[in-house]
Amino acid sequence: MEIHVCQAINQREKADVLVLPFWKKEGVAAAAFKDAKELTFTNPIIDIGDFKAKESEVVLIYSAEHTEPRVLLLGLGDKKNCTKETLRRSYAEALKMALSKKLSTLNVVLPQDCLIDDASIAYTAMEAMMLTNYSFDYKSKKEDRPLVKQVCFITEVASFQQMKKQAQAVTKGVFFTRDLVNGNADEITPKKLADEALMLDKRYSKISAKIFDKQHIEKMGMGLFLAVARCSSNDPYFIILEYKGNPSTEDKVALIGKGITYDTGGLSLKPSSSMDTMKCDMAGAGAVYGTLMALAELDAKVNVVGIVAATENSIGALSYKLGDVYTSYCKTSVEITNTDAEGRLALADCLSYAIEQIKPKMMIDLATLTGAAGVALGEVRSPLFSNNQEIAKHLIEIGQETGERMWQMPLDDDYKELLYSKIADIKNCGSREGSLIFSAMFLKEFVKETPWAHLDIAYTAYLAKPKYYHTTPATGYGVRLLVEYLRKHHAS
Ligand code: BES
Ligand code: MN
Ligand code: ZN
Repeated sequence: MEIHVCQAINQREKADVLVLPFWKKEGVAAAAFKDAKELTFTNPIIDIGDFKAKESEVVLIYSAEHTEPRVLLLGLGDKKNCTKETLRRSYAEALKMALSKKLSTLNVVLPQDCLIDDASIAYTAMEAMMLTNYSFDYKSKKEDRPLVKQVCFITEVASFQQMKKQAQAVTKGVFFTRDLVNGNADEITPKKLADEALMLDKRYSKISAKIFDKQHIEKMGMGLFLAVARCSSNDPYFIILEYKGNPSTEDKVALIGKGITYDTGGLSLKPSSSMDTMKCDMAGAGAVYGTLMALAELDAKVNVVGIVAATENSIGALSYKLGDVYTSYCKTSVEITNTDAEGRLALADCLSYAIEQIKPKMMIDLATLTGAAGVALGEVRSPLFSNNQEIAKHLIEIGQETGERMWQMPLDDDYKELLYSKIADIKNCGSREGSLIFSAMFLKEFVKETPWAHLDIAYTAYLAKPKYYHTTPATGYGVRLLVEYLRKHHAS
């Protein structure tokens, strides 16, 4: 999608539609833009009250008075309550209306005098429209779903070009993630994740990739990761992606992504009704890849190491077995009580590898780890766990801004007894009580003293049905959050 800017409304070029924002003021729609002579806008639909400018309300009208044959009235709700998320959702609706009418060029007016600064308004509306202009499916007829080709924003914001570049870089990362997560599991295999890492290495001079094959993983002694990978007909890979954006320091942040390219549950086999979405089980890895791509596109001054243990969790004669004990990279022994609790096993070896070999100053893991995440918080927020209140606070603050919201969950020592095993140091799965917290307590065993946060993105990375600016099941959750977090708190 091409993005243009036009400083004055009377200098705009022809387009298929003009998007005009409105506040809801005392129950009626009031222009949210400067009342320039060229834009003075009256229409019976406003006087009659059929368009009230409620948040995300869109009405398309046809008029011969404008440069464009159509005008899209866009409601933003009450001015005082307007947040970035209001703008994102509303401008997404405008773009979706354009898509439904197969329009290809838009002139877009931005709102004025709310509590958000003009540069952020421009950034947020632009980002939302870009994120919404995305499709992914395997339907045979592509021409039925043309995307919007061009959007021209009418704004005087001085930093527009900079905002545009940023939004493009971040959106590119989000799309990379979404493509990986939406893609067929038989296409996005562990090998494919390794190849995509090599692609990033080749394309970006500041990214380098290291790929360890099964033999090497065996030599390193990653017994938990290997247990999960035992019967996968697609070989596992241990993938390290390094982005070196700040050579003046050795400090680095590790990002660990769950990379189960398909989760059958193993011998603790899932029922079909819970298996049909399990190509999403590498969404954590996807978010790490997208974040690294966006950082490289932005040339961010930060050092980040991405780590992914990529494998399928298959079922077969070679499956790892319930009741057996496997030994982790850091020598902790784990009794397998459920082979469907595989993500924590693969992640555990990543976490101990990170602290031993990478020695990051802090680390964040993202994982589609538990159904319990959805039981607790639905698709609205991701459960967040951390052993460091400052990290938790920063992530929550930034997620509130980017629309990737979280809710912090506890890690009290009292929960540790849940992990007790008679025959091993710990077990990988307990009962239903506290099962979400169990998964994080399990990871914590491998984290030791390193400042760490764990985000369970099982229900936020992959939606049952599209909503807002998420037009496909895969949302790319985590990319915008991590990019913002790393730039704000770890870049120089
Ligand atoms: N990949 C699943 C979690 C999941 C569920 C992701 C729904 C996305 C949507 C994970 O490996 C899993 O199977 N978790 C089990 C854990 C249980 C055995 C303790 C679960 O949630 O049922
Ligand atoms: Mn599972
Ligand atoms: Zn899983």
